[in-house]
Amino acid sequence: MPVLGIETSCDETAAAVVGADGTILSDIVLSQLDDHRPYGGVVPEIAARAHVDHLDAIVSRAMTESGLDYGDLDGIAATAGPGLIGGVMVGLMTGKAIALARNKPFLAINHLEGHALTARLTDRVEFPYLLLLISGGHCQLLEVTGVGGYRRIGTTIDDAVGEAFDKTAKLLGLGFPGGPAVEAAAAQGDPTAVALPRPLAGTETCDFSFSGLKTAVLHAVGDPDALTDTRRADVAASFQAAVADVLADRASRAMKRFAQRHSKARTFVVAGGVAANQALRARLATEAAAQDFTLVVPPVRLCTDNAVMIAWAGLERLSLGQTDDFATPPRARWPLDATAAAPGAKA
Ligand code: KG4
Ligand code: ZN
Repeated sequence: MPVLGIETSCDETAAAVVGADGTILSDIVLSQLDDHRPYGGVVPEIAARAHVDHLDAIVSRAMTESGLDYGDLDGIAATAGPGLIGGVMVGLMTGKAIALARNKPFLAINHLEGHALTARLTDRVEFPYLLLLISGGHCQLLEVTGVGGYRRIGTTIDDAVGEAFDKTAKLLGLGFPGGPAVEAAAAQGDPTAVALPRPLAGTETCDFSFSGLKTAVLHAVGDPDALTDTRRADVAASFQAAVADVLADRASRAMKRFAQRHSKARTFVVAGGVAANQALRARLATEAAAQDFTLVVPPVRLCTDNAVMIAWAGLERLSLGQTDDFATPPRARWPLDATAAAPGAKA
C-alpha cells in the first residue's frame, strides 16, 4: 500500500507517492533557488512563504502522476524536523490535514531519517550499516541498526560540509547554490595548487571540523577582484581535495570501528546533498574498497532533498506499526541519536 510523502524543511517544496515495495509512483520537487539567489543563501521567511504558495499544487501533482486517489493511500508522511521551522510547519500541518480529512495514519518523519533510510529503497541495504550523512546542515557518521536505531559515532564540531562548500563558492564568487558550482570549477583546477589544512585528520575520534578550512580558503582567495579563472579553479580543486581527504580519513576510522562491532556487516552508505559530488564519491569508493566495505550512494536526485525519502521512511515506520499523533510538534532541531555524546567524546 502506498504512502504520500511531503518535504518542506529547507528550500525544496516536494511531494511523492511511493508503493510498499519501493516503487516510486511520483516524485515532484520544486526548487526555490531563484527566490533565494539574489540573497546568496536561503532566507527562512521567503522559504516558508513559498512553501505556503506552492505545496497544495505540488501535492496534487504528486497524486495525479501516481494515478491514485487519496483513498488508495495507506498513510501520509511529512517531515516534522529538523529544519527551518516556518517551512516545517507548512508541510507538517498539510500532512496532518490530509491524514485527518481522509482518516489515514499519519507519520511525522525526521528529515535525517529520510536521508538515512534512502539506501534501503534504492539498494535494498540490510541493517546494520555505517552511514556518512553529509548535507547543508549536517556532517555525521552513524551506525544504523534498524528503523529508529541510530548511534552517532562522529559529528562536526563546527560547520557542516555542505555549508563549507556554499561558503567557498561565495568567497570564489561562484554564486548560489555552492556545491555544484565548486565541483564544476574544481574539475578545471589543480588540487595541489594551494596548500590547505586537513582539520582533525589522523585524530582519535571520528569527528569533523570545517571552519579552519573555510578561513584558509578566505586567505587563499585574497583580493576577490584580483581572482583569475585559473586561480579560482585551483582554489576550488584544492578545497575539494582537502574535503575528500578529511572525509576519507574520518570514514576509514569509522569503518574500522564499525567492523569491530559488527563482524559480518560491511556496507558503507553515503547520503545527503553533498553525496551528489562525484569526486567525493570516487574518493570514498576507493576508501571503502580498501577496507573491504561495499559503498552504496543513492542516485543524485535522491541524495539532495526530496519527498521520496520521506514517503519511504513513512513506509518503513508504518510496516512496524509506528504511527504518530496529530499533536506531534514541528522541530527546528531533532538529532537522530538523541543520546549522542557531545562532539569530541570517544565513541
Ligand atoms: O541534503 P541537502 O539537499 O539539504 C540539506 O538537508 O541540507 O544538501 C544541500 C547541500 C548544500 O550545501 C549544497 O551545496 C550541497 O548539499 N551540495 C553539494 C553538491 N550538490 C549539493 N556539495 C558538493 N558537491 C555537489 N555536487
Ligand atoms: Zn537534506
